[in-house]
Parts: sequence; C-alpha cells; structure tokens
Amino acid sequence: MVRWLREPLPMLQDLSARYGVAFSVRVPRMEQPMVFFSDPAAVKQIWAGDPEVFRAGEANVILKSSLGGNSILLLDGERHLRERRLMLPPFHGERMKAYGIAMRDAAAREVARWPVGKEFPIQHPMQGITLDVIMRTIFGVEDEARLAPLREALVRWTTLATSRLGTALLLLTPPEHAPKIQQLASKGLGRLLPWASIVKAMEDTDRVVRELIARRRREGTEGREDILSMLLDARDERGQRMTDDELRDEMLTLLVAGHETTATTLAWTIHHLLSNPAWYARVRAEVAEVAGGGLIEPDQVDKLVLLDAAIKETLRLTPIIPLVARHLKKPSTIGGFELPAGAVAAACIYLVHHRPDLWPEPERFDPGRFVGKKPDPTHYFPFGGGTRRCLGMAFATYEMRIVLATILARVELAAAPGTPVKLVRRGITLAPSGGMPIVVTARR
Ligand code: HEM
Repeated sequence: MVRWLREPLPMLQDLSARYGVAFSVRVPRMEQPMVFFSDPAAVKQIWAGDPEVFRAGEANVILKSSLGGNSILLLDGERHLRERRLMLPPFHGERMKAYGIAMRDAAAREVARWPVGKEFPIQHPMQGITLDVIMRTIFGVEDEARLAPLREALVRWTTLATSRLGTALLLLTPPEHAPKIQQLASKGLGRLLPWASIVKAMEDTDRVVRELIARRRREGTEGREDILSMLLDARDERGQRMTDDELRDEMLTLLVAGHETTATTLAWTIHHLLSNPAWYARVRAEVAEVAGGGLIEPDQVDKLVLLDAAIKETLRLTPIIPLVARHLKKPSTIGGFELPAGAVAAACIYLVHHRPDLWPEPERFDPGRFVGKKPDPTHYFPFGGGTRRCLGMAFATYEMRIVLATILARVELAAAPGTPVKLVRRGITLAPSGGMPIVVTARR
C-alpha cells in the first residue's frame, strides 16, 4: 500500500514485467485479492460482465466517506441504472452544447488574469475554470455571490484531500472507520488531529451544498433545466422523491468527479504540447484557422481534429485514473483465470495504454495515432467502460477542447525552465508535479 501510494506507476510496471498480463495484489483487510488485468480480452469480459456480479459501486467503497453512500459512484444494480438514466442527458448532445459559451467565457476570464513572463502552476487556474463550469451546469446558478461560498469550501477541501496527508488518509483508512474518525476530528480535542482541517472543509462544503438544495426547493424548479432541478422533480417507481441526503451525495459527486479530473487532464495536455514543439505549433495553427484568429465558437469545436487527438493521446500516455475496478459477487472466469467471489477485478488503464504491441513506441507523444481513427474500447479506455463508463465523458472532452482552444488563441506558453515535470499522486488521480509550472511568453 505504501508503494501504491508513493510510486503507483513504477509499481504497476514492475509487477507487469514480473508476472505478465494478470497479477494479484493482496490489499490489507480484503479477504480476497485485487487482480489487475492488462489483456484486452480480459478487459472485454470486464466491460461485458453482468452488473449484478461485477459491482463497481462496491469496488468504489473508499469514496463513501467523502461522497456519501447515495453517490452514483457507490451504487449498483437497479438504483444505479435509474440514477444514471436520469443524470446522463444534460451531459450530452444539444443540452451539453448549450454550455459551450459559458465554458469559453470561463476560460477567457481566467486567461486574462495570467501574468506575462512570470512562472506559475497551471493546475490551479485549470481547476478554477472547470469548477466554475460544473457549478453553473449542475446548479443552474449564474449569480457569483451564491457560488462563491461553494467555490471557497470545495477548493479548500479538494486541496487538503489531495495533499499527501489527505491521500494517505483516503487510501489507508478502513472505510468502516472513516465516519468515526470524522466525528472525532470535528469534536473537542479531536480538532487537534491532522484530519481536522480536512473534516472541517468537508463539513463546510456539505453545508453550502445543502443550502443551495434547500433554496431551490423553496424557490421551485419551474422552467429550469439544470441537474439539481431535474433531480428535485424526479420520482422513483413508487412515486418517491429523492431525499436531501441523496441529492447532496449526487451533487457533490458531480462537483468532485466533474472538475478535478478535467483540470488535471488539461494540465497534462499543456505539458505534452509544450514538450513537443512540432505538435504544439500544429495544434495552434489549427485553432487559429478554425476560429479565424478570434475565439472559438461552440459549433466549430468538432473541426478541432488535431486538438482532439492531442487530448486523446494525453489520456493514453498519462491517464489520470490508472485503473477501474469491479467487486465480484460470484466466482467468475476472467482472462482464463478463475476468480473467487469477493475478489476485485481491475481493468488496468495505464498498463493497457502502454502495451507496445497495441501502441508502438508507447512512451512517445504522438497524437497522430488518433487522427481519423477510433480506438478499440479494450485498447483505450481512459473513461472506463461498459455500463459504468464515465457519465461526463462527452462533456469533459467538449469542455477540454473549448478551454484549450481559448487558451491557445489568447496566449503563447512555455514550460517553466529548470523544473522537470514528474508524475505524482493527487488523491486517486495522477497529476503533473508542482501543479505543472508554465510561463506566458506573449499575449495575443
Ligand atoms: C478528463 C476527465 C474525466 C476522466 C478521465 C474521467 C474518468 C472516469 C472514470 C475512469 C470513471 C470510472 C468508469 C468505470 O468504472 O468504468 C468515471 C466515472 C464517472 N465520472 Fe468521470 N471522468 C472525467 C470527467 C468527468 C466529468 C466532467 C463528470 C461530470 C460531469 C464525470 C462524472 C463521472 C461520474 C458521475 C462517474 C460514475 C459513473 C457510473 O458509475 O455510472 N466525470 N470517470
């Protein structure tokens, strides 16, 4: 566990070099092992597995103490399907595209503040943009005064939770003990514990989210198309509405899953483009041509073929989530191995994306691999797969193209000199070190 925490990728590389396309890892407190697969045939079986047997919600149990047991990430079976059907439409098609201008404006506002000639880490401003976008999308609120308290609490929480201490707590605290530790940390002498500031930030975020929910209940949902209003109006098969606890868990899940991931991928894409000047120049030229020298319009996004390929290649080379897991309810055969009930089958995104037989010269950044090609979902799956594939995939890829096109149109960038970027863990994601420092060399 310590190695998994400190150096996840060298650990995966070592184990796969030693044992091949399937290996088991004993995880403390788990009776059965976690089995990592990097064979496309096994991945295919994981995607096709019966959701009643291949339980993603149960495999995500470590997220319960932060997101709550009603989070879509924690649900399985019928309830998962029902909630997914409800939450998916606003993140697709025309409803998603309606957010295009807001995405572009959030990016343009942020870029306007960047200093010229001074080094700064890009992760934080990226997080600012993606948080702004997701807050407005799911709450349908434009009023900055209402959003500011949520932004403050959430940034404080995610910053602490993705620090070294926060990451260690997330991965090493047994899920069943997490509520007790939280209670202790928020009371009396427990406030002196290292957990206390994280728990306080969580409590503040929780309070602000609940206030926004209560306010919408009072004001009503008529004529509103945002996700909170839709979830407030939804009824289950018995005609029951969602409770405040359920609403809180889902809103928090979308807030957290919907901004850190996208921000880190944006930071990685900028890192790879700046490290590969030929591709940087090609992508910038494409943006200038498509947008005619101005800012990108939402209906031009599909023409950004090279930028899209650069983002896809970034997610191949440096996927921010290294694996997705399914807890097996019954004994199952995967990749020719018999796994007992209780084992966890993991489709290893990182290892499959780095297989030289599927991706020649896998360590080379080459967006050309994706130009005019649709990858096989068992060779490339940065957003997971099957019935659990990322709910925000279309939204995230749309948002990333708009944000990057806006940045590339407005400023010229260079990597900060003398600071080599390494891969580091940020909570459950893998991010560039030091927040990916850059310098703006010119404004356009
Ligand atoms: C680059 C950005 C993102 C990446 C790489 C990413 C990746 C992932 C991965 C790997 C999973 C697990 C899939 C599985 O178990 O098979 C997932 C699930 C999920 N993601 Fe994302 N995600 C991103 C952005 C977003 C955004 C923007 C949202 C919200 C709008 C979002 C919401 C979710 C939700 C709700 C789930 C759970 C789906 C379910 O269990 O049915 N993600 N994501």
